[in-house]
Amino acid sequence: MKILAVESSCDETAAAVIEGVGNFVGGEWSLPADFEAAGVKILSNVVVSQVDIFAAYGGVIPEVAARSHLEAILPVIQKALNDAHLTKDDIDCLAVTHTPGLLGSLLIGTLTMRALAILWEKPLYAVHHLKSHIYSNWLTEGASPSFPLVALVISGGHTQIIHMPGHNEFEIIGTTRDDAVGECFDKVAKILGLPYPGGPAIARAADEGEVKYRLPKPKVEGLDFSFSGLKTAVLRAVQGELGLPITTPSFELQKHLSEKQVADFAASFQKAAVEILLDKLEMALEAHPEARTVVFAGGVSANKVLREEAARRLLGGSEGHSTRGDLNVFFPEPKFSGDNAAMVGVAAYFEILAGVQPTDPYKLNIAPRTAIS
Ligand code: KG4
Ligand code: ZN
Repeated sequence: MKILAVESSCDETAAAVIEGVGNFVGGEWSLPADFEAAGVKILSNVVVSQVDIFAAYGGVIPEVAARSHLEAILPVIQKALNDAHLTKDDIDCLAVTHTPGLLGSLLIGTLTMRALAILWEKPLYAVHHLKSHIYSNWLTEGASPSFPLVALVISGGHTQIIHMPGHNEFEIIGTTRDDAVGECFDKVAKILGLPYPGGPAIARAADEGEVKYRLPKPKVEGLDFSFSGLKTAVLRAVQGELGLPITTPSFELQKHLSEKQVADFAASFQKAAVEILLDKLEMALEAHPEARTVVFAGGVSANKVLREEAARRLLGGSEGHSTRGDLNVFFPEPKFSGDNAAMVGVAAYFEILAGVQPTDPYKLNIAPRTAIS
């Protein structure tokens, strides 16, 4: 079966065609007997990023993002079909991110796919963005994470620990009480005068720096996170290092910082953020000793230090799909850790296998915030 998927929840306009084991014939699915026989191939994957536009502003401007999606969406879909050497007639069903995300951004992708589903008379699957991030782990050739698993979802908008007893079953066991970890990378980058998006910029700067500054870990009970305190701790540490009063606005600081100081703050912050994430993940694994697998998901999962440190702490060795005891650890391939549509396609594929029904294209609505389901 071939699925045309679209993602437009934030500042990437993306379309992909993926092919899954199974067929759609005469309006009926003919699917693999079990999940073991399931699998997908990526036929095309097109991502048009707006980061260059927002680098100039230091962050996403929702109105501008929506307008950029409007310009890009049809050519991006056309390119996904062309790259796969397919026409609409070869496509069995459609999938689109309808929640959560920026309202205007979600509207463009969702409305476009509603229209195509009606005009082309194809089933349309509405997919939750965080589910897509989790399922990006199934895009790696040969990867098939086993259940029960614990997923650490770390993106620009979300920081959650999700327990999954099986495919398409989600139980949120930890969540941030304030900022998401990606948002914290972005805000700390701004304090340090590094460009948007802050995650990759901090990672690059940190490569040249030393972990020199001690930043406090937030005391949050259970499996929940808090990242706003860490951002403020960096702000205070920078003001302290520069001998400036705490009333100095954050945008005033960067011009006083040397390259070395920026690198050292980036390395110190990155280490603290990674430790906070992995401490809670280890607590989650203690609470769920039956979990056989850990999957990382979302833009922040591209972080190299996080990957190395996770391998060291969870596997006791090198990064990869090796095991320590019976624990398997999966990361999405870096090109699939940020927003893309191949992950929307694979998430829809596993929805279809789990018996989820297509949505009504005349009624599908968007929602800026909803829990994963
Ligand atoms: O998943 P994503 O592409 O979009 C959302 O759904 O939010 O995540 C974007 C976030 C941004 O905050 C960005 O700074 C962060 O992921 N990010 C990183 C890295 N690459 C992207 N954070 C840390 N290290 C990275 N290498
Ligand atoms: Zn995302």
